Amino acid sequence: MAQGPRGAQPIEPVLVVIPTYNERENIGPILRRLHEALPAVHALVVDDGSPDGTGDVADELAKADERVHVLHRTEKAGLGAAYVAGFRWGMARDYATLVEMDADGSHAPEDLPRLLEALGDADLVVGSRYVAGGSTVNWPARRWLLSRGANVYSRVALGVKVNDMTAGFRAYRREVLEKLPLDEIASHGYCFQIDLTLRTDNAGFEIVEVPITFTEREIGESKMSGSIVREAMIRVGLWGARRRWEQLRGLFRRR
Ligand code: GDD
Ligand code: MN
Repeated sequence: MAQGPRGAQPIEPVLVVIPTYNERENIGPILRRLHEALPAVHALVVDDGSPDGTGDVADELAKADERVHVLHRTEKAGLGAAYVAGFRWGMARDYATLVEMDADGSHAPEDLPRLLEALGDADLVVGSRYVAGGSTVNWPARRWLLSRGANVYSRVALGVKVNDMTAGFRAYRREVLEKLPLDEIASHGYCFQIDLTLRTDNAGFEIVEVPITFTEREIGESKMSGSIVREAMIRVGLWGARRRWEQLRGLFRRR
């Protein structure tokens, strides 16, 4: 079993948190692939009351497989809130590693063993599209530009040396999430990913990027929206200003 960078912390047991909103046809296949790749991991589906009945499908799957769990939430409250709820559920139990993964097949469960392996020398492993060997497949140019732009903007504004800050395929050591103030996290949309990357970096944890291929979904629709983009731009700008201000203050204090 892989060991932690700071000595002996094990990375198992592993919980894979999968947020869902209208992923009825995707949830079964993704869980099957996950358990083919890694039979020992547990999965927690966090469903926001999907109108298409994803929650019921997940319940059926959970009934048949003790490794599958479901958390039902009453309304669509965003990716960030779903993950925070999922992390809390996992941390109330004995999971040593908490993984984030999309339900739509964009993140290949077959890549997860590599992510977990890298966690032996890290506190957070990010499955990255924007390091050597990483890529995106079947993304329209518009979406690729938006994602690239978001990452360049975040990197310049925040000064965090992570190439794919909005990545949604990641593995956290439990200790990281224990240290972060999860109740303060107000990011609803995909800027939740940037938010957590920044907080993890600020807390001094080791972040490692592992290349992945992100393949656009074949079934269902992306939940990306204008309001998700706006939230990210505004928040990242504010965090950037704050981080730069604190860096400056630190510089003067040392004199
Ligand atoms: N419970 C819940 N609530 N799940 C949600 C919500 C929500 O409000 N919004 C999205 N999801 C789920 C989807 O059902 C899917 O499983 C996953 O979150 C990702 O959503 P998509 O809508 O498929 O995201 P995407 O493909 O546009 O975006 C991908 O790229 C982003 C930018 O890099 C994802 O990997 C994001 O995590 C990533 O930030
Ligand atoms: Mn997707």
